[in-house]
Amino acid sequence: MEHKDINNIVTLGIESSCDETAAAVLRGGRELLSNVIDTQIPDHQKYGGVVPEIASRRHIVNILPVIDAALKEAGMEKQDIDQVAVTYGPGLVGALLVGVSAGKSLAYALDVPLIGVNHLEGHIFANFLSDPALEPPFTALVVSGGHTSLVDVRDYNAFSLLGETRDDAAGEAFDKIARVMGLPYPGGPQIDKLAREGDPDAIDFPKALMEDGNYEFSFSGLKSAVLNYLNAMKMKRIEIPKADVAASFQKAVVEVLVKKTIEAVETAGRDTLVLAGGVAANHALVERLQQAADERGIRFRRPSQKLCTDNAAMIACRGYYQSLNGDFADVSLNAVPGLRL
Ligand code: KG4
Ligand code: ZN
Repeated sequence: MEHKDINNIVTLGIESSCDETAAAVLRGGRELLSNVIDTQIPDHQKYGGVVPEIASRRHIVNILPVIDAALKEAGMEKQDIDQVAVTYGPGLVGALLVGVSAGKSLAYALDVPLIGVNHLEGHIFANFLSDPALEPPFTALVVSGGHTSLVDVRDYNAFSLLGETRDDAAGEAFDKIARVMGLPYPGGPQIDKLAREGDPDAIDFPKALMEDGNYEFSFSGLKSAVLNYLNAMKMKRIEIPKADVAASFQKAVVEVLVKKTIEAVETAGRDTLVLAGGVAANHALVERLQQAADERGIRFRRPSQKLCTDNAAMIACRGYYQSLNGDFADVSLNAVPGLRL
């Protein structure tokens, strides 16, 4: 591989941290040749959330067919793979282990380098695939089912965490509120849809840690306030205005995210803001961030819809840039469920 032009390196990405089994083939850092995602959402829906043991078992069944499908879609054979990039955390340990084992076995059998990728960094790197002209530095807001973090990306391999959530992640709050309102899992897209028919100013829900210079988040108080509101309405036998609750809750989340993010971008002195993670699909968040960025002359980027939620393309992309930095793993690579940025 030493003789190969870095722009032609073929990276196989593997992702299995939660309820998506995914594989992707990337040429160089930006040319996505395939992006296969097998979602288990229907398997978990009847339980109202991801059941870890079911997730692990489905990953075991799916992982090899998904890798084969990604190679086929890219028009490649296993022998064409130059390196393997796999998510090793954060996530569900049993789920992560399936991808890590597959990645290690493939790299060992093919005698190619292995790269262990942090899932959160992967989410940020999805933006390099959506916008091939994007380059660091920029400030990123990562909002997913498990994380809410503000990250300053100084270079491809240099990040600093500016702040994160003290309790629930933004996506988690969406999912929990949706669940008590009787909406199917995952709740984020459901609330997003319902909110469009509601009045965001109908109910005044609390926003936490809004003082300037604070880049930490907390959504547990908001969650309790919504639950209390729903319970009070039930006790009084008043019909719950679901669309208004969805819109008002979403507004509270979005206002906090937008205020802190814009302040972080300006304090870091960046001219570009990047959104990442599953909640990057939220229409209200995108609209408000775009508006706030436009008002201040900040460039705003977010991944295309398919690259927002979990996928292996972003893992391959992150892995590629790690490989340029000589950041390789070996067969001792293990799953790290609580891996931090
Ligand atoms: O990044 P992701 O696929 O998985 C994690 O790494 O956690 O994010 C999934 C999360 C779920 O909580 C889901 O409800 C949320 O992203 N989500 C949304 C929307 N689409 C997905 N939340 C709000 N609005 C959406 N449109
Ligand atoms: Zn994710």
